[in-house]
Amino acid sequence: MHADPGIEVSLAKGFFITFEGGEGAGKSTQMRLLAEALSARGYRVLTTREPGGSVGAEAVRHVLLSGAAESFGVRMEAILFAAARSDHVEEVIRPALEQGTIVLCDRFMDSSRVYQGVTGNLEPAFVETLERVAVNGVIPDCTIIFDLPASVGLERARRRAANDSPDRFEKEQLETHEKRREAFLDIAAADPERCRVVDANRPPIVIAAEVLSLVEALLPLEGRPQPSNAEATS
Ligand code: TYD
Repeated sequence: MHADPGIEVSLAKGFFITFEGGEGAGKSTQMRLLAEALSARGYRVLTTREPGGSVGAEAVRHVLLSGAAESFGVRMEAILFAAARSDHVEEVIRPALEQGTIVLCDRFMDSSRVYQGVTGNLEPAFVETLERVAVNGVIPDCTIIFDLPASVGLERARRRAANDSPDRFEKEQLETHEKRREAFLDIAAADPERCRVVDANRPPIVIAAEVLSLVEALLPLEGRPQPSNAEATS
């Protein structure tokens, strides 16, 4: 279904979708494809990413991904991720949702639960408190978890890193990546209303079709583009 050219569909409260999963799961490609498909249907779409997405958060991104904060410990890193998230939420995500935009975000609070909480061994109460402060009520309407065996994801991430050095989190061992995969699946199982698991070990075009159809089924009815007469009768 396509909206009439030039007609923009605005949702009353916006819609917030996060893309989660391990390394090399193809999240960024899928986010781009979904953004294109939703824009073609007339929705106003904003794509963003974490860590980063706002001026303040992008300043913290480099500190985290270069490993500059690693020697100060996981608690320090977790607080920095939360600081970046808070700025991103208040400066970019919340205002966009208030304008009726569909916001697509590459990683969000579940990455902190998994990377800092589970494989960083931080106490759950500490991680929960940081999450509450950082998101300040902005919880994703839908979280898509791109699932694939850690060995496949790591191989893809390594190939990608052939031209680029692996970041602080990509350098970790296979066992750690397996634990993260399980942790994302546990989050999905505990919150089936918000989370959808997608098998990421398939051709991108097949995954994109599944992602679009699951998102379209969740978008609020009142904001959906109306089919044109020609489409309605064919
Ligand atoms: P990035 O280069 O954006 O890559 P990708 O999402 O493609 O893996 O790297 C982000 C890294 O930061 C990634 O290894 C996961 C990690 N991360 C955390 O540890 N905690 C967080 O809260 C977030 C948002 C990311």
